[in-house]
Amino acid sequence: MNNYGWGLPIAASTYASKIDFGIWLIHAAMIGIFVLWGIFFTYLLIKYRKRPGVAAVREDHDDTPARISVPDSISKFPFAQMLYQNSSELKSLLPDFAVMAFEIALIVLYALPVWSRIKMQMPDEKDAVVISVVAEQFGWDIHYPGPDGKFGRRRPELVHFNNPLGVDRTDPDAADDVVVGNEIHMPVGRKILIKLTSKDVIHDFFVPEFRIKQDAVPGMEIPVWIEPNRVGHYELACAQLCGFGHSLMRGDVYVDTPEDYQKWLASRAAATPAPPKPANPAEDF
Ligand code: CUA
Repeated sequence: MNNYGWGLPIAASTYASKIDFGIWLIHAAMIGIFVLWGIFFTYLLIKYRKRPGVAAVREDHDDTPARISVPDSISKFPFAQMLYQNSSELKSLLPDFAVMAFEIALIVLYALPVWSRIKMQMPDEKDAVVISVVAEQFGWDIHYPGPDGKFGRRRPELVHFNNPLGVDRTDPDAADDVVVGNEIHMPVGRKILIKLTSKDVIHDFFVPEFRIKQDAVPGMEIPVWIEPNRVGHYELACAQLCGFGHSLMRGDVYVDTPEDYQKWLASRAAATPAPPKPANPAEDF
């Protein structure tokens, strides 16, 4: 796994390039502003440097007339008096207004549409590979519904160290379910819909290569979608300080070819314990 270099990590999801474009755009604009201000600042330092025989001039604003006449054509506008009176100072604020206009345009025309695409427009469950991810201190449990596409019932009273999600194997829908710890497999080129929740405290599902980050909140099931477009091995990290083991709370994400994904799922299903036989009270004695 050599996905990190000097720049951004490799981009492995369909929307990663949109996030990256926003990041580069902001950095390019900030570098541009930094250079322009730097040149202007240096110019002022040289132009107004201390020289013998040149005294500093103090400008006093106290002598501004209380009222100045505003032409009739302008006076209709709100704040006309104030703006007209300060027009020379307003001119010096033009660069600030330009930066502000750029930032507002960036948020409204770029960031909000991308945000809405990633966080608000979930793929249809019918067209997606649906998996459930449950965070806990300090690990991730991944629940796959198996070939029937239906998640089996989970019951809190069945939670055990070898059944971390309390999957009820007597439920017919649970028979083919697969639960894996700290390892997510997904097929490339498909929309993956993750139902994300937490057992205890707030964690955060973060896969840098996908450019996705989403809090996992106990009591809530938050949908997350990804369309991985690059076969590979990536890292799942917890991005929300959640206790002593926070830094150890990681997992592996494998984006497989569809064939490899099916093969992996079948091998995990074969390793899953068979549902227990219906309880026979006589055996308890
Ligand atoms: Cu879980 Cu940090």
